[in-house]
Amino acid sequence: MRLIEDHERLIYVDHAATTPVRAQAREAMIPHFAESFGNPSSLYALAQESRNAVDEARERVAGVLGCRTREVVFTSGGTESDNAAIKGTAHAMRKSGRHLVTTAIEHHAVIHSCEQLEDVGFDVTYVPPDATGIVDPEAVANAVRPQTVLVSVMLANNEVGSVQDVRTTSDLVKEKAAGLGTSVVFHSDAVQAAGKLSLDVDEMGVDLLSLSAHKVNGPKGVGALYVRRGTPIEPLIAGGGQERQRRSGTENVPGIVGFGVALELANEERHSFNDRCERLREQIVTGILERVPGAILNGHPQQRLSNIAHFSFQGVEGEPVLLGLDFAGISASSGSACSSASLEPSHVLIAMGMDPSLAVGSVRISLGIDNTQEDANAIMDVLPDVLRRLRAMPSLAARGPLS
Ligand SMILES: Cc1ncc(COP(=O)(O)O)c(C=O)c1O
Repeated sequence: MRLIEDHERLIYVDHAATTPVRAQAREAMIPHFAESFGNPSSLYALAQESRNAVDEARERVAGVLGCRTREVVFTSGGTESDNAAIKGTAHAMRKSGRHLVTTAIEHHAVIHSCEQLEDVGFDVTYVPPDATGIVDPEAVANAVRPQTVLVSVMLANNEVGSVQDVRTTSDLVKEKAAGLGTSVVFHSDAVQAAGKLSLDVDEMGVDLLSLSAHKVNGPKGVGALYVRRGTPIEPLIAGGGQERQRRSGTENVPGIVGFGVALELANEERHSFNDRCERLREQIVTGILERVPGAILNGHPQQRLSNIAHFSFQGVEGEPVLLGLDFAGISASSGSACSSASLEPSHVLIAMGMDPSLAVGSVRISLGIDNTQEDANAIMDVLPDVLRRLRAMPSLAARGPLS
């Protein structure tokens, strides 16, 4: 096994968890920490600079989404956007009905928001995916009832990278609702899809869309919720009425500025990003499947993100594998941020029908803008070696070296 010192730099392949802030976003943010620090709601010229910076960022985000600037609400990130979309719409529409439809493989920000609504009397249908992590659009539409007020289907899954056909799902859902004489709001979590897929909200047919800056080489703690004009939604956060009464709180001006720049660049560069990731991913997948006996590649073979390769390995737990990789200078993950901190199998893999004993032995490689051929080579060398050593020590493989 190679040790950390053998590498010129750490190999970071956990971009689905977070990404470094790119230089252009950092540079755009810096003036707004100290020099141009005014509160955008104040009246003097200094404040106007902040107001203009927020407006400019809103134009950048709206440009990527193909929407009006007034339909973009800045939030503290993907989690808040998902919470605001689900709970805000459910509460605004509670007199029309108390049923929601979502999928069993959503991020916990969506799943736990739905569970909170169940605690206060809403009913939620969780549509399961197939074994490749794809949710059938017809199954989602079939779950719609006269009481359904909201449907939420993520665009790309954060663990296995499977991409849903949001357009078809939204069309079928709206058709079904129209047939029932009701109307349904359609939300999609596009946090992982940003910078990889088109985010045109009209092409997708969505009313609400969640985004997060730190997945696209922007800063942490900032994101956006797209709200189509006329969509019923109650604000989750009440206060001074910022963001056109939809999200109170003094704006995170540097964060919003960095987000605007990062999202715009990620969207412009997405074709070349996808080409490069596709090439590296293909090599990693082929290399690992060839070199590791019993390795399983998860997710849909085509309908997926370019940058995620998710494997399961029989007879090992993810944690010792990740520690072995870390020891060799490679930062990867088991999948979701939550499940990487526990030995619970991922809800996504379980929903895909995977045996829990196999699900706990999972590793996600998620590529980003700085990964190189050398990184792919190192992964193909080190990961099989780590697995070989762990499999030779069954008690270590099962328990993890630190337990
Ligand atoms: C699909 C998805 N939705 C929502 C989130 C939450 O985003 P944030 O970290 O900005 O709160 C994440 C982050 O992992 C995600 O992958």
